[in-house]
Amino acid sequence: MPVSDSTRSYKLDRTVVLVGLMGAGKSTVGRRLAEAIGTGFIDSDDEIEAAAGMSIPEIFDTFGEQYFRDGENRVISRLLDGAPAVLATGGGAFMAEANRAAIAAHGVSVWINADLETLWERVQGKPGRPLLQRDDAQQVLADLVAKRYPVYALADITVDSHHGQPHEKVVKSIIAALLENGVLTQNEGQS
Ligand code: S3P
Repeated sequence: MPVSDSTRSYKLDRTVVLVGLMGAGKSTVGRRLAEAIGTGFIDSDDEIEAAAGMSIPEIFDTFGEQYFRDGENRVISRLLDGAPAVLATGGGAFMAEANRAAIAAHGVSVWINADLETLWERVQGKPGRPLLQRDDAQQVLADLVAKRYPVYALADITVDSHHGQPHEKVVKSIIAALLENGVLTQNEGQS
């Protein structure tokens, strides 16, 4: 069941930026989190595709990864200038120092930390992720875990999504952490 909490109303101070590897559940969790706290949801991959008028695999094929990364940086910086929302980013976005700095200045970063087995279960055989369209995709994912997790660990908040933990639980953990650090407040008169 989706998390829905129509009896409560919340105020979000800054944009919640979800980071983590492909298959961590950033988009699904992000959409449900936004719904639960009554705010907007944006997916940076969707925004890049809309701005380019092409799918991510087409962007990689036609212009290469660096072109995609440049677009990703521009889109993230533009979105962070907007009203507070929940923003799901692509798995590589938080690796760029400039993005981490922009997120630290305008948002709060949340790493959805999932184990390799869970990630692989969710991404294997699915098209749409150019980095994994190869025979050794599982090894590529394992290498990305080794390379990226120390950087994702710099996020303001970490929530675990291990062993296929339901997305609802992850949403609840994020809400609890946001309330605790004051980025999210519950409107007075509500319990
Ligand atoms: C990427 C992750 C993808 C997408 C692109 C590159 C990455 O997004 O941005 O294929 O470098 O990890 P998801 O993490 O939403 O799959």
